[in-house]
Amino acid sequence: MDFILDHYENPRNSGSLSDEDKNKHRCDIKQNGGNPGCGDIVTICLQFEDNVITDFKFEGEGCIVSQAGTSIISEVVIGKSKDEILAMGPEIITDIIGEELALSRPKCSTLGISTVKLAIRELEKEETKKQAVS
Ligand code: FES
Repeated sequence: MDFILDHYENPRNSGSLSDEDKNKHRCDIKQNGGNPGCGDIVTICLQFEDNVITDFKFEGEGCIVSQAGTSIISEVVIGKSKDEILAMGPEIITDIIGEELALSRPKCSTLGISTVKLAIRELEKEETKKQAVS
């Protein structure tokens, strides 16, 4: 639990994504993710180089598990390719935080990885649209 609390209190790769700060972080894609049941939310900003995540920033509000889970996932996915990330299942977070917590709070624990996968799918849709136009 100390590990989870540490990620909650000192989230890795977190920071403001407001428009005033956008020059600090180029977002190839900015994506919101949330749990409608509780209203908790994260917004993530991803940068890619050759289909690999090179930078990750997020901001969010919500329960300890959702925010710590997003911080943990940020460290997991930096350096990974889109395909590697899309192939990740919920076990990517379960293996780190433990089954007891992950299974009792599945929506909270997977908010981070689900939002990253959503972002990649949205980016791929945008890229497909651009190719269709050009
Ligand atoms: Fe809302 Fe955990 S209670 S994400």
